[in-house]
Amino acid sequence: MRKPIIAGNWKMNKTAAEAEALINELKPLVKKAKPEVVICVPYTDLWIAAKSVLGTNIKLGAENVAWADSGAFTGEISAAMLKEIGVEYVIIGHSERRQYFGETNESVNKRTKQALSNGLKPIVCVGETLEEREKNKTKKVLKKQVLEGFDGITDFSNIVIAYEPVWAIGTGKTATAEDANKTIGYIRSLIKKTYGAEVAKNLRIQYGGSMKPSNCKELMAMRNIDGGLIGGAALKAEDFAAIVNYKD
Ligand code: PGA
Repeated sequence: MRKPIIAGNWKMNKTAAEAEALINELKPLVKKAKPEVVICVPYTDLWIAAKSVLGTNIKLGAENVAWADSGAFTGEISAAMLKEIGVEYVIIGHSERRQYFGETNESVNKRTKQALSNGLKPIVCVGETLEEREKNKTKKVLKKQVLEGFDGITDFSNIVIAYEPVWAIGTGKTATAEDANKTIGYIRSLIKKTYGAEVAKNLRIQYGGSMKPSNCKELMAMRNIDGGLIGGAALKAEDFAAIVNYKD
């Protein structure tokens, strides 16, 4: 069985001091969690976050990683730098990176390979925009994102996919649980066709986009949904804990 994974995506929120306070608030609330619990935080929070989560069930993630080992890449952070701090997961190809920072399927592919070869676990984001959805292009877009994003990758044991319909991110609009389940089912079938039944069966695919305490139960009850990537609701300890503890 696939172990559910609930990951917070803090985006560009929380200073280091605020991060420490939020984690301290979170720790007791999630300590009995059944799913895997991850917080993906800004680079500047990683150091203090790594210390704060030590000895807890909260795992640490970053929000991006460079595709090169080292060198002249001003502003980038390497996988080795993350690894040394104690980072385990890394979000790659979030729609905000694709939209505002020119991230492409090709750069997602390079970053994913770099993460994997350094022992980091990528959470690779895919999802269609509202326009693509309205033009009935969802499957086509997802297929391209998956095939190009994972080109040349064969071992999926450390990979998580986050399906995040762009129109549902930060908008309060959630895909219905059925819709999300169906689309994630499509992604799984695509993986099956390309990489085989075993890979598809074991690969964890999260839903992301306005997931919150009031809708997480319904979403998590779906057969194909193995977790959530949580933005806004991850910034409040009680809300994030309520999602993590959705089974209680
Ligand atoms: P949201 O963000 O939960 O605020 O919609 C999710 C995400 O962008 O990962």
